[in-house]
Amino acid sequence: MGDALRQRLAGRTSEELIGLIGKNIAHVICSVSPAAVRARRRNAQFDRLWGTETSGLVNLSGLAIDPARARHGVRYQASNGEALKEAVSRFDIDPAEWSLVDYGSGKGRIIMLAAAMGFGRAIGVEFSPELCAIANDNVRSFVMKGGAAHPPEIVLGDAGAFQPPEGPLLAYLYNPFDASVLDRVIGRLEARTFPGDPVVVAYVDPRHLSCFEATSRWSVIASSPDLALLQSR
Ligand SMILES: C[S@@+](CC[C@H](N)C(=O)[O-])C[C@H]1O[C@@H](n2cnc3c(N)ncnc32)[C@H](O)[C@@H]1O
Repeated sequence: MGDALRQRLAGRTSEELIGLIGKNIAHVICSVSPAAVRARRRNAQFDRLWGTETSGLVNLSGLAIDPARARHGVRYQASNGEALKEAVSRFDIDPAEWSLVDYGSGKGRIIMLAAAMGFGRAIGVEFSPELCAIANDNVRSFVMKGGAAHPPEIVLGDAGAFQPPEGPLLAYLYNPFDASVLDRVIGRLEARTFPGDPVVVAYVDPRHLSCFEATSRWSVIASSPDLALLQSR
């Protein structure tokens, strides 16, 4: 057994180990489903087209992130872009007037898609220096090949410490972290909300939706196990 795996399993109870095995079996079954195979094909097409590298799973344990912060985060895996399209359509967003922030932006797929859709600003916040470096290379190639007129921006840092920009804002989250970080993100979103300055959220795989519900400052517009769409009240 490798050191990294031994570290991840150390100190877990037998119930937790059984839960982990169950999750891994479910993950293997999902990864060979027709939908997953189609998504992988689409993702590979994106990378071939733009000369980028956004695929794969990257565990945080192998990255240069302070372990005390990494344990609140979720591994890297790219979104397929469907939730972004759904949010733009459901909220009737005119991208040129809006900014998008991807909290936990990884290799940058979502900010490139948002820039291609014409968002005024597409900002990714990511706490792994390695993933930011890959995202920067990706963005360079994407812009050079004509993917977007305005280059997406990448901020290296903790999502919970990021000050969101003013103006209409779409906050994008693909289950990037646990409730403790999400609460800090929500606090900053709420602190910058002005009347007439909409803030909407696309939360993919919304495991901690209760963090939004707890503040009564958000209306849930749509909610499924795959995606929650919310807007500030
Ligand atoms: C599931 S991936 C989502 C990637 C990207 N948003 C997408 O949809 O393609 C989650 C990402 O969040 C990052 N992350 C986790 N906790 C973070 C934090 N506190 N601050 C910034 N990034 C974080 C991880 O490194 C990982 O790249």
